[in-house]
Amino acid sequence: MSYKPSAPSVRLDQLAAWRALLEHRDEIAGQHMRDWFAGAGANARVEQFSLHAAGLYLDYSKNRITDKTRTLLAHLARECHVPAKRDAMWAGEHVNVTEDRAALHVALRAPQGAAFRDAAGDVSAGVHQTLARMRAFSERVRDGRWLGATGKRIRHLVNVGIGGSDLGPRMVCDALAVYGRAELTAHFIANIDPTELARTLPTLDPQTTLVVVCSKTFTTLETMTNARTIRAWFLANGIPESALGKHFVAVSTNADEATRFGIDRENVFEFGEWVGGRYSLWSSVGLIIMLYLGPQHFDALLAGAHAMDEHFRTAPLEANMPVLLGLLGIWYRNFFDAQTLSIAPYTDALQKLPPYLQQLDMESNGKSVQIDGTPVAWQTAPIIWGEPGTNGQHAYFQMLHQGTTLVPVDFIAVLEPQYEGAAYLEHHRKLLANCFAQSEALLQGGSMATSEQAGSPLGAQRRFDGNRPSNTIVIDKLTPERLGALIALYEHKIFVQAAVWDINPFDQWGVELGKTLCRAIEPELLDPDTLRPGAHDASTASLIRLAGEALRRRKG
Ligand code: F6P
Repeated sequence: MSYKPSAPSVRLDQLAAWRALLEHRDEIAGQHMRDWFAGAGANARVEQFSLHAAGLYLDYSKNRITDKTRTLLAHLARECHVPAKRDAMWAGEHVNVTEDRAALHVALRAPQGAAFRDAAGDVSAGVHQTLARMRAFSERVRDGRWLGATGKRIRHLVNVGIGGSDLGPRMVCDALAVYGRAELTAHFIANIDPTELARTLPTLDPQTTLVVVCSKTFTTLETMTNARTIRAWFLANGIPESALGKHFVAVSTNADEATRFGIDRENVFEFGEWVGGRYSLWSSVGLIIMLYLGPQHFDALLAGAHAMDEHFRTAPLEANMPVLLGLLGIWYRNFFDAQTLSIAPYTDALQKLPPYLQQLDMESNGKSVQIDGTPVAWQTAPIIWGEPGTNGQHAYFQMLHQGTTLVPVDFIAVLEPQYEGAAYLEHHRKLLANCFAQSEALLQGGSMATSEQAGSPLGAQRRFDGNRPSNTIVIDKLTPERLGALIALYEHKIFVQAAVWDINPFDQWGVELGKTLCRAIEPELLDPDTLRPGAHDASTASLIRLAGEALRRRKG
C-alpha cells in the first residue's frame, strides 16, 4: 500500500492556523493563568479543559490556553491532515516511508475479530496466533510444565535486549511488579557495559534461569554480545550445550539469525516488520511481561491500550486526549520555545516511564527533515526528562519554579496506593498532596517573603512568578489496563506531533552513523597500531590511543 502523505501544500509556518496562533500568543502574552481561575468562571475552566478517556482523566486547565487557543490548535491539526494521517496508519499504509513499512502497533492490541491489513494482506490472524503461542508458553513456564535442563522449575526470567527491546518491557514489569509472583523474578540486561551482567549473574541459578533474547534484528551489538556471554555462563556452570534450549528463547523478526545463535525454531517468537522497536512491547517483545505477570495481565494491558486507540480514532479533535496533549506540546515547543518536557510520575512504580518516553518521543520525533526530505523550519521533539515525585522536588524542581527556562510538566497522579496498609495510606496522602501542591505552585506563583522582606533582595529571591504550565493525568489505580492506556496515550500524542511537523516518527536513521563508526574503532582499541593516520579526527584518534593502551596494559 503506497502512502501518499497529505502534506500541506503550504509550509507549516505559513498555514493560516499557525499564523493565527502566533498572533494569539502575543494577544495573551501579558495574561496570567491565575486570573483565568479567579472568580465565578473557575470551575467552568476545569470542566472546559479536562476530559476522561480509557479510564484516564486529564486536567489540562493549568495551561496558557483559552478556548480560542484550543480552537486554533485543532484548526492547525486539521490543516496538517492529522485525522487523514491517523486513518492511513490504521489502514496499514506505509506511513513509515523511508523504510517502506506500515506502523500497525494498534493491530497488536485489537481484540479477536479485528481485521488489520498491510500490503501483504491480513496481519490480525498472525497477531493472535503469536499471542496464543506466547500464552501457551508462559503458562507452561509459570505452572512448572517447562523445566530447566536439570528438571527444576524456572525461577528467574532474564530479558536480554536494548532500546525498544528493553525499555518498554522493563518499565511495564517494574510498574506492575505487584501483579507478579514472589517465586518468579524478572531481570533485564541491556547495556554493553558489563556492570548489569556482573551484578545480575551471581544472583541467578543457571538451572532455574530462562533467558529471552529479544531483538527485532537479532544483530544488535549489545544484545548479541550479552547473549553470547550468558550462553558461556550457562556452559561454565554445568548446563550442557545440548540442553541450552531449555534456557533460551528468542523474540525477533529474524528467526534465521536466532536459530543460527542456537535457539530452537519452535522457541522463536516472531513479530512483523511493521512493528517499530519502540512501539513493540505489545508484540512478542512483551514475552517477558507475560511470563512475569501472566497472560491475563498482559491481555489487560492490551485492552487498556486498545481502549485508548479507539478513543484516539473516534473522538473529535477538541475532545481527543492524545490530540490535545500533542497540540499542547506543539503550543509550547513552537510558540513559546520550550525546549524540554518534564515527566513527573508521582509513584516510584513509574520511575522507568521517563526513560521509556525518552526513546518513544526523541527517537520518533528527533528529526530535522520533512517526509519529502526538505529541512524543517520549525522545532521538533522536545527533550524528555524527569524523575518520580517527590524525589524530583528535592532536586530540580527549584528550576521549574524559579529558573529562566519554561518547562512544561506532565504530572501523573495515581489515586489508589499499590500497597495495602494504614501506614502506606498516610504516605500516599502525602504523595498526592505534594503532586497537587506542585502544579498549584507552578500555576499560581506567589511570595514566601515576610512583610519585612517585601521589596528587599531576599523578598525578590522568595518570589514565584507562577504562570508555568502543566498537565495532570490522573489514574484511579495503576492496573495493567490503565498502564496500557497511558502508554498508548503517549504513543498517539507523539504521532500527532509528527503529523503536524510533517516528519516520519517511525524511522531512526540518526542512530546509524555511530554504530558504523564503532565497528571501525573496536579493532583499533584492540590493536592501537592499526590506527591509520587520518582515519579519525585528532581528538578521537588520541582517545582511541589512550584507551587502547589502557586496555593493552589490562590484558598484559
Ligand atoms: O539503535 C536503535 C535501535 O535500532 C532502536 O530503534 C531499537 O529499539 C534498538 O536499537 C534495538 O534494536 P533490536 O531490537 O533490533 O535489537
